[in-house]
Amino acid sequence: MEVFKVTTEVYADADIKSILAELKCEKVTIITDAMMVKVGLIAKVEDALKKSDIQYDIFDGVEMNPSLESVKKALDQVIDFSPETIIAVGGGSTLDSAKAVRYFLKRTGIDIPVIAIPTTSGTGSEVTSYAVITDTVNSVKIPIKDEEMMPKIAILDPEFTRTLPKSVVADGGIDALTHAIEAYSCSVANFHTQIYAMTAIKGIFKNLLKMYRNIEDRDARVEMAKASCIAGIAFEKSGLGINHSVAHAIGGKFHKPHGRSNGVVLPYIIRFNSENMETAQKYYEIAKELELPCSSVKEGAESLAIAVEILNRELGIPARVKDMGIDEVEYNKLIPEMAETALNDICTGGNIRKVNVEDLKDIFRKVF
Ligand SMILES: [Fe+2]
Repeated sequence: MEVFKVTTEVYADADIKSILAELKCEKVTIITDAMMVKVGLIAKVEDALKKSDIQYDIFDGVEMNPSLESVKKALDQVIDFSPETIIAVGGGSTLDSAKAVRYFLKRTGIDIPVIAIPTTSGTGSEVTSYAVITDTVNSVKIPIKDEEMMPKIAILDPEFTRTLPKSVVADGGIDALTHAIEAYSCSVANFHTQIYAMTAIKGIFKNLLKMYRNIEDRDARVEMAKASCIAGIAFEKSGLGINHSVAHAIGGKFHKPHGRSNGVVLPYIIRFNSENMETAQKYYEIAKELELPCSSVKEGAESLAIAVEILNRELGIPARVKDMGIDEVEYNKLIPEMAETALNDICTGGNIRKVNVEDLKDIFRKVF
């Protein structure tokens, strides 16, 4: 039996004003970071709340890779203000922080829904039940997954992605593409998840470079927001694969952006996984939809790897880990540890081609 349910109400190509005007509540806490306040995006939310006579409080202390401490600070501020709704405005770190706040509140019997307004097109956090919080004392990332963390509403307003720096467009876009390719080709993929994943892949190939080259292209921003959101819906239901496991290990050790680490290793992982015929067949299906050369399954899978390499080059994403400014000696020393970390990563189980620690060591050597 296949069950498919999307619980978040998604408003795409929306204007936050019209959605927030419909909010039936008196008090709201906005969770965000200082940059969002500085670039004036929070002022847009404040204006909308003022028009509806909604009282609000702002927590702007979200960090990149949020720590338990910063989530605790947000939690304390939310408890003090006791809002009826949390509005999260920002990238993956902010949405994850707000979802973690909801998670901890829910454990104490307090039910405050989250409205997510993503300001990047990449993580899909607005429609997933995952949050990654960092325990800075022990230097470990704590992934939390709980259905209760799913945002109630996601508003994709293209005004909120209009000031994105080029590197953030590239990293976010390639992260979304990795979500979609892994969701399409992993072991739990099914009819429903593949529809979302394939539509996302096509949307990203069509619009990511347009958005990267011209951030004023409103249509490209709208389409990228939709594509990264539905890629999120796909991987929420199906999980991912070893591309994310390898990227998590590299990103965690060398503090590189998540999306960039994914993009660098993606062509290598496609080629590694293509040795498995079942996975190669799925890459072939993607290549066919993208109208890439695919006279055979093997050629189709290779075409997909080449298409990703070209996209990476156009987006300024390095072709090798070495070119991310990582020291070779230090990297080689850490390969055994990274291979263990990747083997135990939550995403590894979803990969159709089974891997052991030696395979992963080989992959870490190759991607360098
Ligand atoms: Fe990701």
